[in-house]
Amino acid sequence: MLAGKVAIVAGYGDVGKGCAQALKAYGARVLISEIDPICALQAAMEGYEVTTMEEAVKTARIYVTTTGCTSIVRGEHFEEMLDDSIVCNIGHFNCEIDVDYLNKNAKSKDLVQPQVHRYTMKSGRHIIVLAEGRLVNLGCAHGHPSFVMSNSFTNQVLAQIDLWTNPKQSICVKVLSKKVCVVSYHLCLSVCLSLVMAYLMCSQLLSFLFFLKLF
Ligand SMILES: NC(=O)c1ccc[n+]([C@@H]2O[C@H](COP(=O)([O-])OP(=O)(O)OC[C@H]3O[C@@H](n4cnc5c(N)ncnc54)[C@H](O)[C@@H]3O)[C@@H](O)[C@H]2O)c1
Repeated sequence: MLAGKVAIVAGYGDVGKGCAQALKAYGARVLISEIDPICALQAAMEGYEVTTMEEAVKTARIYVTTTGCTSIVRGEHFEEMLDDSIVCNIGHFNCEIDVDYLNKNAKSKDLVQPQVHRYTMKSGRHIIVLAEGRLVNLGCAHGHPSFVMSNSFTNQVLAQIDLWTNPKQSICVKVLSKKVCVVSYHLCLSVCLSLVMAYLMCSQLLSFLFFLKLF
């Protein structure tokens, strides 16, 4: 049961926003950690508490990493977590959660059910890791429908066609050494619709946690 639990979502980009919304819909109190001030402000304006992982470990029971960045949940966090905290990653790379630390430092590791490991720490506390820190929606659920991938790739092709055929409507700005182009308004609207699909995809993660009935 997620209602009443404290969950932290690391990263408030597209994936983080969907995960936070889904967790909130199930009644969890959601914390956000972010390094980008704009995304952090967006989270605060949506009513989420923005905090650090170091602060979150005192209250959170559920950890979801969505940053695509390395070393988000590390050894020092595992050592402070509450008993039977659930940790998972939905970002692309399996470097967000330091599973190696658990494998090297935990007293024991038990397979509770496929893709669900329960580590016993030297302190006697337990940590539950889903899909060994790999993409949880693919490891523990059925992934997202092929329609979502098809939608995403179609968006990219549409954006390229738009940039090629409407170069004057697209706004191009130079950010540091990278050139960033913003596609025209009507295309932005269709891309926004596709983001709704991404939100739906993240809800699979929550369905999985719900069925685990670990609490
Ligand atoms: N599981 C899936 O099906 C699926 C689907 C789409 C994308 N992804 C993956 O999810 C990840 C995120 O994708 P996205 O589109 O949301 O990217 P994004 O760039 O929109 O969001 C990532 C956010 O994480 C923040 N971040 C980076 N480092 C951080 C840190 N150390 N602490 C806190 N926040 C940090 C960034 O500021 C950014 O706001 C990527 O790895 C992407 O490949 C997975």
